[in-house]
Amino acid sequence: MDDLKAKYLGQIAGAADEAALEDIRLAAVGKKGEVALKMRELGRMTPEERQTVGPALNALKDEINSAIAAKKAALGDAALDERLRSEWLDVTLPTRATRQGTIHPVSQVTEEVTAIFAELGFSVAEGPRIDTDWYNFDALNIPGHHPARAEMDTFYMARAEGDDRPPHVLRTHTSPVQIRTMEAEGAPLRIICPGGVYRADYDQTHTPMFHQIEGLAIDRDIHLGHLKWTLETFLKAFFERDDIVLRLRPSYFPFTEPSVEVDVGYSNEGGRRVVGGHGDAEGHAWMELLGSGMVNPRVIAAAGLDPNEWQGFAFGCGIDRLAMLKYGMNDLRAFFDGDARWLSHYGFSPFDQPTLSGGVGARA
Ligand code: DAH
Repeated sequence: MDDLKAKYLGQIAGAADEAALEDIRLAAVGKKGEVALKMRELGRMTPEERQTVGPALNALKDEINSAIAAKKAALGDAALDERLRSEWLDVTLPTRATRQGTIHPVSQVTEEVTAIFAELGFSVAEGPRIDTDWYNFDALNIPGHHPARAEMDTFYMARAEGDDRPPHVLRTHTSPVQIRTMEAEGAPLRIICPGGVYRADYDQTHTPMFHQIEGLAIDRDIHLGHLKWTLETFLKAFFERDDIVLRLRPSYFPFTEPSVEVDVGYSNEGGRRVVGGHGDAEGHAWMELLGSGMVNPRVIAAAGLDPNEWQGFAFGCGIDRLAMLKYGMNDLRAFFDGDARWLSHYGFSPFDQPTLSGGVGARA
């Protein structure tokens, strides 16, 4: 028995890994192992012999099992030590250079405008870019003979052969979102709707796809004064200057009554238009910036609200145009060419989030 013990404890101490330990375990205390074979011999012994040999065999079995468990734990510790020695990371090494993308000026300005209007209590609404001619035209009181509806200006989607329902259109402005949101949410309402719009135009300041932001405030007592204050407050925050002067000019839009075109004073500095100052002042002029007005009662009715109870203001403004003015870009076509050189020059850092407190303008 002492020989058995010496043999197996020796083997266990020398085992190189867990697989070797398992082999030793099977040979020693497994079902067909040497200790089990010895147990079987107990039957042939005298009762006296059995009384001493039996407990001794059990003790031997326990001793071998616990030696194996201890060795297993030791092997595990050694393996961990080895990994800790060989696998390490020098966190002080400089990182590999990666190319960092930039935020497109349209996205940047959309975020800036959204941040300002959010502060004024407006939420963001969206609508489809492919819309019905009801939402894009009729509900907005744009009659069938209006020039905007002519084939030359509007992109119409083709219907299947034999389907003579009116075709869908690529929305020509963000105004249909006014109708959709009034229908879905009722009143009172304060929303802005940024998004892409489409018109058949192409030159330095027009592309077939461009971006607008629509504003709509509906309540029981909204008047033109609210519109003027809201636009002034917005433009001061957006251009980050207090000397923004607006000129409201009577105009005509089918979806507003009265309608006002809003001009802003600017000066020419080094060939660049800089917004600010009174348009009639020395070295200054007026520039048309956006369309607006009091929502036409017909539009409110078309959206399912009672125009005797609800009224409000609306405006629509080009996002790309705001971006060009604020950040000094002069060719709109380059916005949508997808030239990575243009983007890395005019794009904005993704870490520079516009906030009112930090200044909505991106740091150059
Ligand atoms: N939808 C007009 C356009 O695309 C812009 C506009 C003008 C929107 C007046 C309005 C508004 O909401 O009140 O030219």
